[in-house]
Amino acid sequence: MARRQITLRDPSRFKDPADLTWERYIALQARERERYLAERAAIPAEALAYRSVSPRYLERAVEQFANNFFPEESATRYVATAAAHAPFEELKCCCLFQLADEQRHMEMDRDVFERAGIPERDWLPAWEQPGTTCRFFRHVLELDDTIEILVKANFVAEGAAGPATFAVLADGAEERGDLLSAVNHRARVRDETRHISYARALVKALIDDDPSNLDVIQQWQDESLQLFVEVAKGGARRAWWEGFLASYYKIALPLGLRPTALAV
Ligand SMILES: [Fe+2]
Ligand SMILES: [Fe+2]
Repeated sequence: MARRQITLRDPSRFKDPADLTWERYIALQARERERYLAERAAIPAEALAYRSVSPRYLERAVEQFANNFFPEESATRYVATAAAHAPFEELKCCCLFQLADEQRHMEMDRDVFERAGIPERDWLPAWEQPGTTCRFFRHVLELDDTIEILVKANFVAEGAAGPATFAVLADGAEERGDLLSAVNHRARVRDETRHISYARALVKALIDDDPSNLDVIQQWQDESLQLFVEVAKGGARRAWWEGFLASYYKIALPLGLRPTALAV
């Protein structure tokens, strides 16, 4: 399939919906970190050392931990590439603010692995096994075009994995006594919402700028969702997958995109 690059001919069409400046972002980051540390400090020591969860929970959670940590690690890297190649300043700032967010998320997830006592040699194999989001993120890491990265990773992937998914993960972890993961998910979702909204603003600007950009964005959506399909395979995560598609289509269809015909 032909790969095309698209550009925003009139960059003034894009405005950061969060209206952040460096000063405002640094203040926001500091507030977020303080809130996060306060929430984490309220977790009983037993739970923080993963002595309040069942051994069976930990065994099964390694895959979930990997599916949290490696996407954040990947995001830190691909959004750095997006920032380095950003075609205009306003977009570059959004990428740089996101870079700082993703790095913090990655640290939170490293902390989970370490406190749960999972040896580092087990992390990557859990991520590389079939049925994870690994294939999608490895694809994004190969890209160097800012707009393609942001459409695929922020608009499609974060848009799909959006607030509802993280609420389910947080509640599920909490019910099983994994209070640290619950606090982490609730902290990360406040940032992810901002990453989705600037990507949505970018997609809207691209379509307004040149309606033929919609075809390329559609192609990027189709490629991205196809790379995610394996996560739903076998039916074990059917409910998760339905919610994933529903969150994404809720933001994409009003912009003129069509559902992807997926080969499951
Ligand atoms: Fe993140
Ligand atoms: Fe993000």
